[in-house]
Amino acid sequence: MAVRVPLLLPDETLLWPVDAPPPTAVTGPAVDSYGRAINYLRISLTDACNLRCVYCMPEDMRFQPRSALLTDEEILTIARAAAELGTTKIRLTGGEPTIRPGLVELVRALARIPGIRELAMTTNGLLLAELAEPLAQAGLKRLNVSIDTLDPEKFRRITRWGDLCRVWDGIAAAEAAGLNPLKLNVVVVRGFNEDEVVPLARLSIERPWHIRFIELMPLGSVAEFQQGAVVPSHETRARIEAELGPLMPVPGHDLRDPARPYRLAGARGQIGFIDTITDPFCAGCNRYRLTADGKLRLCLLRDREVDLLTPLRNGCTFEELKALMRLAIWNKPWGHGLPEGDVPRARVMSQIGG
Ligand code: 5AD
Ligand code: SF4
Repeated sequence: MAVRVPLLLPDETLLWPVDAPPPTAVTGPAVDSYGRAINYLRISLTDACNLRCVYCMPEDMRFQPRSALLTDEEILTIARAAAELGTTKIRLTGGEPTIRPGLVELVRALARIPGIRELAMTTNGLLLAELAEPLAQAGLKRLNVSIDTLDPEKFRRITRWGDLCRVWDGIAAAEAAGLNPLKLNVVVVRGFNEDEVVPLARLSIERPWHIRFIELMPLGSVAEFQQGAVVPSHETRARIEAELGPLMPVPGHDLRDPARPYRLAGARGQIGFIDTITDPFCAGCNRYRLTADGKLRLCLLRDREVDLLTPLRNGCTFEELKALMRLAIWNKPWGHGLPEGDVPRARVMSQIGG
């Protein structure tokens, strides 16, 4: 069956034959043309956020109207199609996923989809104190919480108004609800928190947490600022080792996990580095992303997307949806083009979900 893929390209250039089905079996787990099994879907539940982190979005960011976003039923249909295509892991992202109305019920329904073995979420933690327990009850398994500093003043500066105390309450609630191992995401931003990496890394000694230091990625209208504020991971690593001693690699690293794991001597937790800029990990990529407005984005850092919202609202069948998603996955780009200066411009991070 030939499926027409409505590709959304900024320049309207079609980069591959879109009327041809993938030259692979049309059943079984979906793979891309490089042989990677693509089985991890990240779903952005909203482009809106209750913070405005300086490195993520402009302060006067405009969010999309509700009608432009996928409904719960549409999300569930796409997730069921994904599961039938071999997706085993789903992560909910935003914007800030916890501000979506009806979140707990949506999580409950997603957790019941046959084949979805792992259901996780990335959040800024502000609303977790109330939500961690109901989310865990509904079937959420793990949480990543973003926390870029331990200093309340710096936190306010980075997030533009966030209250760090609420994040700590949220982290405590997540632990109490059994959402372990808890991962803390730290985006290292020159001039904001490069000196905070030592206290953050120190947390891994006493706590069984995974602290992950992420290199800043350039996207959309904030790309110029971001490009000037990248702190290469080797610098972060050197800072941590100078204060806290050697970082020892943790054996058995799953190559599909972008965070390369290390441990400080005697530590209960781990430290990871996500070196998108200085050491890309595209070869092991098993991800694809669904934006809150219903576009399948095959690479975080490539603007090419496949529209699922329009076919869904035009009444496409479940089998047609699956075929479209399979073809989109087949055409997943190899990796990002940052080294060649190819910066994704169409969206900022909060519109994709990281
Ligand atoms: N580069 C790297 N990470 C980013 N995040 C947000 N914007 C960027 C960026 N430009 C992080 C958030 C969160 C995760 C979803 O992505 O801090 O941890
Ligand atoms: Fe919101 Fe996360 Fe972006 Fe900060 S990084 S503004 S918390 S979406």
